[in-house]
Order: sequence, then C-alpha cells, then structure tokens
Amino acid sequence: MRHVQIVGWGKALPQRVLTNRELESMVDTTDEWIRTRTGIRERRIVGPKESTLTLAAKAARDAIEVADVAPSKIDLVIVSTFTPEFGGMPSTASLLQDAIGADNAGAFDLNAACSGFVYGLAVGQALIKSGLHETVLVVGAETLSRIVDWKDRATCVLFGDGAGAVLLQASARPSGVLSCVLGSDGSGGELLSVPGGGSRAPATFQTVSDSSHFIKMNGKEVYKFAVSALPRSVRQAVAQAGMQLSDVDLFIPHQANIRIIGSAAEALGVPMSKVFTNVERYGNTSAASIPIALCEAVEAGLVDEGTKLVLAGFGGGLSWGAAVVEWGVPVRVREPAGAGATSAHLLHTLRDRMHDTRSLARRAARRVDSMLLDKKWDGGTDRRTGSSLDAPPPDGHGKAT
Ligand code: ACO
Repeated sequence: MRHVQIVGWGKALPQRVLTNRELESMVDTTDEWIRTRTGIRERRIVGPKESTLTLAAKAARDAIEVADVAPSKIDLVIVSTFTPEFGGMPSTASLLQDAIGADNAGAFDLNAACSGFVYGLAVGQALIKSGLHETVLVVGAETLSRIVDWKDRATCVLFGDGAGAVLLQASARPSGVLSCVLGSDGSGGELLSVPGGGSRAPATFQTVSDSSHFIKMNGKEVYKFAVSALPRSVRQAVAQAGMQLSDVDLFIPHQANIRIIGSAAEALGVPMSKVFTNVERYGNTSAASIPIALCEAVEAGLVDEGTKLVLAGFGGGLSWGAAVVEWGVPVRVREPAGAGATSAHLLHTLRDRMHDTRSLARRAARRVDSMLLDKKWDGGTDRRTGSSLDAPPPDGHGKAT
C-alpha cells in the first residue's frame, strides 16, 4: 500500500503591509468594523514587480529546499489559483515548472477558489497513491489585490496576497494524507464571482467600465454557506479517516473570517486552542491561506511526527474540501531570523537569481534553435564570405584535421 507524506513546505508573502487604518483613507470603513466583522487587522499586497508566479516560485523553492529533493525528481506541478499569471494560457503551473527547474514534470492549474489547496492536495495524493507519480508539488498562490475593486468596501477589506506550497512524496509509512472529501454546489456560483473576462462576458470597454473584472460577492449568503459547509466537510473527512474529532490535534481552516472559523469550531465542539488562525495578519488569501497557515503552524512548533491535522477550505464555486493528515516526517524548520539570517537571505537570493538566469538561458537557446530552423540566421548567409551557410564548405575548410 502506497502512502503519501508531506515532505516539504514553504510560503511567500509580499513585504507590503496594508493596514485597516490605511483602508480608512481609501474607502468608507473603519478599523473597528473590519476587526469586529472579520478579525482582520492587516493584509499583504504585492508590489509592481510581484505576481502570482513570483510568490508561487518562492513558496515552491522553499518547499523543495525543506524536502531536500532535486527539482528534476518532481513529476507534477499543480498550482491552485483563481488569479493566474495570465488570463487564459500559459498556465501558472507551466511557468512555475520552468522557473524551479522541474524539467521532468507535467504541470496544470486548478481553480477551486478558496478550496483550491485542498483540491490540489486531493489530486496530488491520488496520483501518487495510484502509482502514476512519486513526487508532486502542490502550490496555492493568489494575488487577489489585482482583482479586488478598491472602491468596494464590502470586498476590498477582506482579501490579501500570498502563496504556500507543499511537496508530496510516496512513502511506505502508514501515515500522511489519510482522507480527502471534496464538494461543490454550482447553483451558488454567482454568490461569489468575477463576472467579466470569461466566455460569457469577454473583455470589452463595457465590462471594464462596469467593473466586471473585479470580485463580486454576496457576503451574507457566502457566510451562511461557509458556517454549514465547513463543519460538515470536517466531520466527513475525519470519519473517512476512521477517526473521532477528539483525535485531531490541530485544525487548519481556510482563513476567511474569524467569525466563520469560530462558528465552525463551536458547531464541532472543538476549542479554539486547537484551531490555527492567522487571518488577522493576512486576510483571506484564498487558495494560499491553508498552506501559509500550515507553514506557520510548523514554524510555531505545533506540528511534528504523529500530529493529526485537519485542513478545510470553502469558497467560490461554491466549493468545499477537507483533508486529514497525520504528519509523517520529522520537522526541519528553515533558518530563523537572527544569527546567520543575512547570509541565508543572500544565499536564497543567489539561488533565485540562478534559477532565473537558467530559465532565461533556456529561452534564449529555444530562440536560437528556432532561428536556425527557420534559416533566419543573417538571411542564411555567412556575413564574412557572403556564401550560403547551407552550402558545402570550400575544400579544406571545416574538415577535421
Ligand atoms: N466597512 C463599513 N461598513 C461596511 C463595510 C466596510 N468595509 N462593508 C459592508 N459594510 C456595511 C454594509 O453596507 C451594511 O450596511 P447597511 O446595513 O447600511 O446596508 C453593514 O455594513 C452590514 O453589512 P453586512 O453584510 O450585514 O455585514 P456582515 O456582518 O454580514 O459582515 C462580511 C460582512 C464580513 C462580508 C460577512 O458577510 C462575511 O464574512 N461573509 C463571508 C465572506 C467570505 O468569507 N468570502 C470569501 C469566501 S472564500 C473565496 O472563495 C474567495
């Protein structure tokens, strides 16, 4: 029987912090309203040079480094996102595959909104259990700040940017991902949507002036859905793993709203001391929220070999998903800030630059290959002699001596 362990984990958060106080000067809101209705105090926002791919690449490289696995060993890259690098293609996953040097991997994006990470985990573990793959990278990455209407106080205060990643690997050890349940109710699709830009309403001047490319949400209805879907899916996943709720050491729910998390915990009879939350610092980062929270739980020393975790997401679709994981590997935390952190930072920067250079070199080589194929190399002639490059070399020239 093959089992699936999480052997690497990583996260990426933009440096820029946007506080509730700053939002007060942008829309008609207050720090007090945001904190009491959502639990959010601040969120991270990408800068002009950052994107879903740059966040995904940082989280993925950290996960690969923790696992100490060569990128060439990765069989599949899954990126869960609804804010991809490009509107349609190429997939963010393909770009990530190149950026991290996963030269032998397939790659695809998966969109299940805020449930996306649990969906990615379910697909990745199923492909490993089936024997098709040995090693799968699952990334949740979002830049929600790019599709939020900064004039809509009902949505812009809720979201943030970030990425989290895990590396999954086949194992003989009977632990790891123990169960996954996935669900969907598309009849509620329009409660949370980005109406413009798809095949129903392709981008036009009208869709832009109507703000159709921004997130639209019926907050009250989504709230009602979340407080029932979250505890239900957790119960199902725990039962499927053959466990009781009391066996679970730590619950890591999607970080959308502290009230939703609190209400689900109450419905499950789980004390908040067993629930990991960081929504106050990052807001709702959609598919990235669970893997970011998982990394922070590991960093906080809350996860080690034998720890039983529940990961649970819910959101657009409507969709939901929950998974039970029994942590099966020793925890190796990346070097903390403090002594040696500067040199570690320099080494990470150097590593990222080397990956970028490698990717550029491959792109340049592809370009030269295609010029040679198209015989566009200086019109197919030798610049010095004017003779055709396709012509046989003159006697004595070009022969091995
Ligand atoms: N600041 C001040 N007032 C506000 C703000 C704001 N930022 N936003 C809304 N209000 C006002 C409303 O206009 C309303 O005013 P009115 O009564 O005069 O009309 C009032 O506050 C109350 O609004 P409600 O909608 O009743 O507020 P509620 O307590 O329901 O909280 C919230 C709103 C936080 C959005 C809540 O409904 C919620 O969390 N819903 C779930 C959202 C969610 O989690 N979405 C993501 C799912 S994951 C994914 O897939 C992306």
